[in-house]
Amino acid sequence: MSKKLTFLILSGPTKEYIDPVRYISNESSGKMGLALACYAVKNGHKVIFISGEVKEYPKRVELVKVTTALDMFKASKFKLQTADIIISVAAVADYRPAKFQKHKIKKSDNSMLLELKKNPDIVKYCGKNKSNQVVAGFAFETQNLLANAKLKLRSKKLDLIVANGRDSFGYDKTTAHLVSSNGVIKIENRSKKFIAGKIIDETVRILENIKSFKNNA
Ligand code: CTP
Repeated sequence: MSKKLTFLILSGPTKEYIDPVRYISNESSGKMGLALACYAVKNGHKVIFISGEVKEYPKRVELVKVTTALDMFKASKFKLQTADIIISVAAVADYRPAKFQKHKIKKSDNSMLLELKKNPDIVKYCGKNKSNQVVAGFAFETQNLLANAKLKLRSKKLDLIVANGRDSFGYDKTTAHLVSSNGVIKIENRSKKFIAGKIIDETVRILENIKSFKNNA
């Protein structure tokens, strides 16, 4: 497919504020999101990049910076229909504080309870609301890698899920499994840049299949 496509890529960590100076977040570097965006841009595609705060953002993309999971959700819903292919590699916090305290919380008792509320599952929303689009997600698992990834593929109505094990965290080279209804492609001990290219190529291939199936129906 030589056609210029629009990719919507969700990347980086979200930050969930407890009070004005404290938050819940995670160590996501956004490197895979960056590699995905760079490869797509290099291949002539348009990229809308919605990202939590990271050290490095891709160039030549439409950049939407967000902080919380709710911000990312709102921005994603707004852009969803403009994209051909949606990929979420964002490390979205599963929960946010039930109540934001306007002023810094003062210490008092020896222990405190923090009530958390579930955040929306953004890629699941995209999967359930897609129309002739490809939606891909990631699955980070420390056990039952492929079984859990396949469950997420189905429950989130994704076209592709990239399953990563413990060895993906913080290393430049990693092993990834590209899981779709066509089966599993294992990419062993390669750079994140290399894997990003394979992911983009695979999403484009799946989109071509959807379009040609529709044209022949
Ligand atoms: N994801 C999302 N919104 C959330 C949580 C996750 O869009 N609130 C996306 C991630 O960007 C990723 C996929 O869902 O593409 C899987 O994320 P992962 O953290 O592996 O799994 P969860 O769905 O959060 O489930 P669990 O933590 O129970 O494994």
